[in-house]
Order: sequence, then C-alpha cells, then structure tokens
Amino acid sequence: MSATLVPSVATLPRIIQGGMGIGVSNWRLANAVSSLGHLGVVSGTVIDTVMVRRLQDGDPGGHVRRALAHFPVPAIADEMLHRFFIAEGRAPDAPYRLLPMYRQVVSRARQRVTVAAAFVETWLAREGHDGDVGMNLLTKVQLPNLPTLYGAMLAGVATIIMGAGIPREIPGALDALSEHRPASLRFDVEGMPRDVIESITFDPMDFWHEHAPPMTVLRRPSFYPVVSAVSLAATLARKSNGRVDGFVVESPTAGGHNAPPRGDMQLDASGQPIYGERDVVDFARMRDLGLPFWIAGGSGTPRGFAQALEQGAQGVQVGTLFAFCEESGLEPTLRTSVVEAVCAGRAHVFTDPLASPTGYPFKVIHGVADLADSRERVCDLGYLRVAVRGDDGRTVYRCPAEPVDAYVAKGGDAADCEGRRCLCNGLLADVGLGQVRTEGDEPPLVTSGDDLASVATLAAEGSYHAADVIAWLEGGVQATR
Ligand SMILES: Cc1cc2nc3c(=O)[nH]c(=O)nc-3n(C[C@H](O)[C@H](O)[C@H](O)COP(=O)(O)O)c2cc1C
Repeated sequence: MSATLVPSVATLPRIIQGGMGIGVSNWRLANAVSSLGHLGVVSGTVIDTVMVRRLQDGDPGGHVRRALAHFPVPAIADEMLHRFFIAEGRAPDAPYRLLPMYRQVVSRARQRVTVAAAFVETWLAREGHDGDVGMNLLTKVQLPNLPTLYGAMLAGVATIIMGAGIPREIPGALDALSEHRPASLRFDVEGMPRDVIESITFDPMDFWHEHAPPMTVLRRPSFYPVVSAVSLAATLARKSNGRVDGFVVESPTAGGHNAPPRGDMQLDASGQPIYGERDVVDFARMRDLGLPFWIAGGSGTPRGFAQALEQGAQGVQVGTLFAFCEESGLEPTLRTSVVEAVCAGRAHVFTDPLASPTGYPFKVIHGVADLADSRERVCDLGYLRVAVRGDDGRTVYRCPAEPVDAYVAKGGDAADCEGRRCLCNGLLADVGLGQVRTEGDEPPLVTSGDDLASVATLAAEGSYHAADVIAWLEGGVQATR
C-alpha cells in the first residue's frame, strides 16, 4: 500500500504564504492564496481551541458547521456541535469553556476535538478551488501534533511545514497516518534518564473506534521542515525516518519565533539577540542538497523574491505581508491599529529573547497603543508546557509563563519565569478569541517580521488583499526577467 505522490519541481509553488499561528493564517487567508495558484498554509497550532471558541461564538457565517457536515464520521461532527456550539453565541461577559490541557495520554474524546478541528480548517481552506493547501505546525508543541496531522490529512492537506524544533520523526508519522497506522513520536521529558524513552502515540483506529475505518489510503503530504542552517537541513534530509521533500530556509528577520544565534547568546544595547556571519545561510550548499527550498524572512518584496530565485530557491515563504492583509485572521480593529501605527512610523519590532516560554527568540510589535504588556499570570491552555520527570519518578507539566509559585512548586527555577509572556492566551486574543476574565480580558500580543516597511508600502492606499501581495511580489519578478 503506498500513498506516495511526489510533485515535480515544475508544479511546485513559487510563493508559500507562511503558516502563522494562532489562527492568523486561517482558512480564509489560505483559501485566497491557494485559489490564486500559490500555496496557502493554515496554522494547525492550537486549532482545537480555535474551533471550539468559534463554535461558542455561534459560528458566524456557519463555516465550521459547513465543514463539519463533510467530516467522515457524522457522529463525531454532531458531538462537536452538541458539546461546543452555542446558536446565539456566548454572552460577551461569559468566559469560553476550556478544553482539557494536553498530556502524554489524553482521552479519545479530547483527540476527536483535535482531529475534527484540523479537518475543518483544512477543508475550508480547500473549498471552492483545486489548488493545494498546506498546514504549519510547531515541532515543540508536541502533544497535539499527531491528531492534528491526521485531521488535516483526512481533509486532503498537500503539504506539512514544521519548524521550532527538529522534526525528524514526522516523515515516518505521515507515512503511517496516510495508511491509518499508529504513529509515534519520542516524547521530550526533561530530567528523564538517558536510557528511558517515552513516546506519544496516536492510533487512527482508536479514533475510528466503533465506526467503520476508511478503506482507502490518504494522500501523504509533502514535508518541508523549517531550517535556519544548512547543517540542520542536511541532517533532516539524511536522518529523518522518512521522506523530506524540501525546506523552508528561515532567517532571523522572519516573524514569529526565530532560531537563536549560533554560539552563546549575546544581546545588543536594546536587549535583542545579535546575529552574525555564522547565522548566514550558504545557499550554494543548500542547492547541493538537491531538494527544493523556499527562502523566508524579509523575502517578501519584489526584489527579495527575484533574489531568492537567483539564489536557486524554488521561491519564497512570506508571512508578515499576509498577516496584515484583509483575509488574515488578525482581529480587524487590532489589525487596523497596527497597520496605522506602522504607516505612521510608530510601530517597531523587538526580537525578545525572553518573551516565549519555548526559549526561542520571539518578535513582538511595540509602539501600538492597544497592546498591553502585562497581565495576571494564568495558565489554562498549556500548549507550551514541557514535561519534567521529578525525583519521585512522576511527570509534571510546567510553563515558565504560568504563575511563578506554581512553576517553582513543580521544581522550576523562578529565574526562568522572568520576562516570559503567555503566548497561548495572547495570540488567541490577536484573532478575537481571547479569554474573558474578571480581572480584565486577555491582552493581545502581536508578532511580525522585521520588514514593516513593505507593509507600509502596500497599506499606503488603505487596506490590501492577499491578491495584492501576490501581484506586488510577482510584478517585481516579471520586471527583472
Ligand atoms: C504573525 C506571524 C505568525 C507566525 N507564526 C508562525 C508559526 O506559528 N509557525 C511558523 O513556523 N512560522 C510562523 N511565522 C513565520 C512565517 O511562517 C514566515 O516564515 C515568516 O513570516 C517569513 O518572513 P517574513 O515575516 O519576513 O515574511 C509567523 C509569522 C508571522 C508574521
């Protein structure tokens, strides 16, 4: 049984719209980009919470319900509606109902939500056109990744793009899931003796349970890891447990998380990581690997696109420009105030070495009035928690952005909590799905790539669409040919 389908270079996209979590690259943006013949990418990060919050808000437009009507197990679609859909929408002061936080082993019901949510997002992004759609996931957010992949594959996802870690076991997982076989990943547990290996397993048959499993294999999506160094690309190409189909090569100017600088972390006078010569990717060596690659990070300009092609790339992956277009998932009022601040020259991007609980540098927009930088610490989503094995042999889950006393009670060092921001709650607030709390609603936390100048160029005459981004980028390439 084989589901292999390797696209030829000629059919590969030139422009990948970067996956942007949480919900910034939603189905609407990916659908717009894929309809235009490029690769639209939905974010699969925290997609389960995104879906259940949309349902609790009454599912405006009926999109989630439309997709669920095509879910291969109608009983599970009904279960989602029964559990989460509120026809008249949640009262504005009512908090969202939460899902149980992920752990190494969760209930079948919990996995069903994740599978269904990934299906919905992918299905909607594919609706109404024949183009391919991809999904982006963060390797570090390990626990929901397998059911998310399976849900996206049930909806026919064409490409999986994963950074923030070393996703060596994902190709094998894609092979297994395409044949509805169990897939496993090594579970990262801090403090675990070297000779003990823990794993995370997802068995599609557990998902189908009392329902008849499908007889046909699923499309095995192409897999593009996100790398910031040729050495990592080479390792992934050679030592993954299955086929790697290409790479996204991301520089530290890209939005979201960045790879830390090589060597010891040094900060400049403003407190941002200093990147040097060793962080510059040698594209000639990248070409020698013989796999297609896309350049990401500040390549979202006509010139950047043309240069990427000259350097032997298949094309570019662009995030920031799409993040601020009309189809982006960013809450419209927030998006408008950021774009206004960008055009007025008030906004700037700070590469924060501490903000992300992952420990990776994370870019945060400063200079926009609506963006608060303080909140009372609450951890109720938990996607960035890491597992730690204590001296008593028990596993605890902790995040340095959770309340400090709770972190310390789980054996953590209070110093690790310094400057950490709750990305789970802050990023959900960016897309209008922030939690309502008596002590104040969750403040948004907006990330962006360094290249705000291009946003200002495109937004100079008002709001712009995904099609405008593509026309602008392609115009430059045509002009230089
Ligand atoms: C708002 C925003 C959120 C992002 N979130 C993610 C993410 O969840 N996962 C990821 O791999 N990359 C993420 N990125 C990076 C993009 O996928 C893309 O690689 C990057 O934006 C390209 O560089 P550019 O911002 O200069 O165009 C994000 C970028 C932005 C602007």
